[in-house]
Amino acid sequence: MAEHPAYPVGLRLSGRRVVVLGGGQVAQRRLPALIAAGADLVLVSPEATPSVEAMADAGEITWERRGYADGDLAGAWYALIATSDPDANRAASAEAERHRVWCVRSDDADAATAWTPATGHSEGVTVAVLTTDARGRDPRHTAAVRDAVVEGLRDGTLVAPHHRTRTPGVALVGGGPGDPDLITVRGRRLLAEADVVIADRLGPRDLLAELPPHVEVIDAAKIPYGRFMAQEAINDALIEHARKGRSVVRLKGGDPYVFGRGMEEVQALAEAGIPCTVVPGISSSISVPGAAGIPVTHRGVAHEFTVVSGHVAPDDARSLVDWRALAALTGTLVILMGVDKIGRIAETLIAHGRSPDTPVALVQEGTTAAQRRVDATLATVAETVTAQDVRPPAVIVVGEVVAVGAGAPPDAARPAPAGSDPQK
Ligand SMILES: C[S@@+](CC[C@H](N)C(=O)[O-])C[C@H]1O[C@@H](n2cnc3c(N)ncnc32)[C@H](O)[C@@H]1O
Repeated sequence: MAEHPAYPVGLRLSGRRVVVLGGGQVAQRRLPALIAAGADLVLVSPEATPSVEAMADAGEITWERRGYADGDLAGAWYALIATSDPDANRAASAEAERHRVWCVRSDDADAATAWTPATGHSEGVTVAVLTTDARGRDPRHTAAVRDAVVEGLRDGTLVAPHHRTRTPGVALVGGGPGDPDLITVRGRRLLAEADVVIADRLGPRDLLAELPPHVEVIDAAKIPYGRFMAQEAINDALIEHARKGRSVVRLKGGDPYVFGRGMEEVQALAEAGIPCTVVPGISSSISVPGAAGIPVTHRGVAHEFTVVSGHVAPDDARSLVDWRALAALTGTLVILMGVDKIGRIAETLIAHGRSPDTPVALVQEGTTAAQRRVDATLATVAETVTAQDVRPPAVIVVGEVVAVGAGAPPDAARPAPAGSDPQK
């Protein structure tokens, strides 16, 4: 039997008699999948583990509390032989052969007529992995192959697009702060299934290089103070591609709803009648300070943190920020898009009572290989930014938490400087 590979097949066991001999660990592991398959399960065993007993108590299996007896496999479609008695296993195996019942044996795979694959599930498919022959059986290897496939499908590193069930539309995906490992599992999967990706400059740009050649990548290029694609043009592109029946991913930096104009895109899509899903992302406002060793809160130091946009100066009529109120707070201030205006922001905070000695950190290109952190105080930050040539994108953290992490080990998970990445 072992000279030929096993023939893989999916058994449809719903309502069909399946006999399990032995109520130990093997049965405990195998029974849930047999129950899920709807099999009419009969367990023959004098004893059972508490979990197996619970399945019997719940009516999921019929438990006959006795040892195996000849004739138990009559009428069965499938059998799992897993008693601790080798003689009983052999006898049951012989009976299965006589009745032509496919049977798995926990003690002797070579003598069995069927093998249980290592299985896993992802998005409506079952992945089942079998070794080619009994002598070469390596259950850890089959389980590892199964894990690699299932994990890859889940996180999108294995690309297996749906073709029949895929619904066209737009997914607004928060890509996280830049490190490609910091996108969500759902975001990565949607990216792997996209026909069109419209990407911001911020976010996990490295992931774009992994997309298959047929995927159209459009650069939304909202570069601060440089060329930018107007929001309306982005909305139009999203609508136009979705209307062609394509799966569109709008890949955004951080979280789509944190200074990301995500809701404007959701509203435009809703008005156009395009289905849209929003996948949250890890916002730079928390993750970038964290990557530089700065916790936005710390017990006994900061009981609040406020995330604020610094893209317009405090004295600008368009500003919606109450800087006076922010100056009165004692907690952490996290400023996004504030590199250009930090001088006037710092002056305003000091003028309204925040100490000039308040620590400030600027974290540029956080979570990427180019990350750097520059420290200052409210009094010195303007000149430090100029002297150190700090540039966007940077997250600015104001508050005593900046000093808390001093001496903490660097973020070991951050990619090492590569120097070869043209995006950086
Ligand atoms: C338009 S806002 C978008 C924020 C994004 N939605 C989020 O949740 O992180 C862009 C600003 O986020 C900050 N930012 C985003 N990614 C960053 C990174 N990797 N390093 C430093 N700052 C970042 C910078 O302040 C940048 O100017």
